[in-house]
Amino acid sequence: MSSVVIVGAQWGDEGKGKIVDIYTEFADVVVRYAGGPNAGHTLVIGDEKLVVRLLPSGILRPRTQCVLGQGMVVDPRVLVDEIDELKRRGHKAIEERLFVSDRAHLILAYHIQVDTLRESSAPKERAIGTTKKGIGPAYEDKVRRTGVRAGELRDLKQLSLRIEAAIESWLPTIEKLGGVVPTAASLVEELAPLAARIVPMLTDTSRLLDSAVRQKKRVMLEGAQGTLLDIDHGTYPFVTSSSAVAGGAAIGAGIGPNRIDTVIGITKAYATRVGAGPFPTELEDASGAHLRDVGVEFGSVTGRPRRTGWLDLPALRYACRVNGIDGLALTKLDVLTGLGTIKVCVAYDTPAGRVHDLPIDLLGRAGVTPVYEELEGWKEPLEAARVLDQLPGAARAYVRFLEDAVETPVYLVSVGPRRAETIVLHNPFVGRAETP
Ligand code: GDP
Ligand code: IMO
Ligand code: MG
Repeated sequence: MSSVVIVGAQWGDEGKGKIVDIYTEFADVVVRYAGGPNAGHTLVIGDEKLVVRLLPSGILRPRTQCVLGQGMVVDPRVLVDEIDELKRRGHKAIEERLFVSDRAHLILAYHIQVDTLRESSAPKERAIGTTKKGIGPAYEDKVRRTGVRAGELRDLKQLSLRIEAAIESWLPTIEKLGGVVPTAASLVEELAPLAARIVPMLTDTSRLLDSAVRQKKRVMLEGAQGTLLDIDHGTYPFVTSSSAVAGGAAIGAGIGPNRIDTVIGITKAYATRVGAGPFPTELEDASGAHLRDVGVEFGSVTGRPRRTGWLDLPALRYACRVNGIDGLALTKLDVLTGLGTIKVCVAYDTPAGRVHDLPIDLLGRAGVTPVYEELEGWKEPLEAARVLDQLPGAARAYVRFLEDAVETPVYLVSVGPRRAETIVLHNPFVGRAETP
């Protein structure tokens, strides 16, 4: 198998960074295909912890080529700062193996301004709780056909004209929100030194990836956010503005869907959400606090406490369906240690009766409530387990229960943030490591 998508099966922060890093030991190229610096993917390698926002999670594997695909929105300042931070930490040959699509859209100051002003002025029930990184307005510009693409950094005069036109279309919005409109000249002045750094990395990344696939190189397509935050398939309107699902990988990387061999969905052993929107299995009791404290559930980008709750199997089945998930990586199983009983949502009661499919458009409405099954907990720490048999029986039963309920095999179980704290059952680039 040569190209593999890693996709978030929940509301983001499932541990995609760790899993991409694990499988990337066997990959030649890693591509981010959607989103921008709203993502925060954590890598823990030895004593080093790194949160990448725009850079693909393969960046700490020195042999791996890293690609920012054209489905992304790229903030030039964040990109250059991330590269410099890695260099400060002593990592070498970063720019040499980094390729930025010249068709990726740029996040510019006015996008961040609009995102921030909108969020702070929206009535409470309408605020999305965005990361305020300018994501929504940058994608709005893209579909409105007033966006500025990375390739335009090559010609600052042309860039200035494009920015002028974009500012003109944002003018009424910014003024209505009480903001001060920047001038194109001041933005271009700030962008000039960043452009000098980014232009050498600009590439027709679709062509690069096509030739990688043809040469049978192993390509990892790294999702950001998660299925339930996807613009089409998420809990709209409380979603992000990009195609986070696996189908977005073909568009966002510029390869045909038939070039993708395997889709791996990442799910935590419980659920979290950061930002507003429906979260039916949310807990506001001691179990919720346990998940937040033990799981250190605080946003990697914004530091906001994440909302926590039980695993939602109808939602996971839904994610398996809309992404075509071949196998799951189950993360943070260790965080459940110490809970007497563990609840799992297996169905929903709705005014029309009990349903086993996720009633996604009804979530949050009166009379739509999760139905739980209770499973036995365990007390033993799991971090040292390297094969399934080293897990306590109740933890193994939890994994089996999940596999049966969603009719999808578990390819990997993660029992801690570090590389070693992982039980690999199947490696899509290599094959089956252990029969589950
Ligand atoms: P991503 O956005 O999907 O890459 O996930 P984040 O990095 O935002 O959040 C996942 C958090 O969980 C990070 O702090 C990881 O270091 C941590 N993590 C990942 N896998 C595990 C695990 O199996 N157990 C524990 N305890 N932490 C994990
Ligand atoms: P990773 O890749 C978790 C959420 C925000 C907000 C909504 C819209 O680390 O899993 P946006 O700034 O995108 O307009 O915000 O989406 N959100 C995420 N939540 N993980 C992420 O990324 C997220 N990216 C966006 O909190 O609710
Ligand atoms: Mg994250």
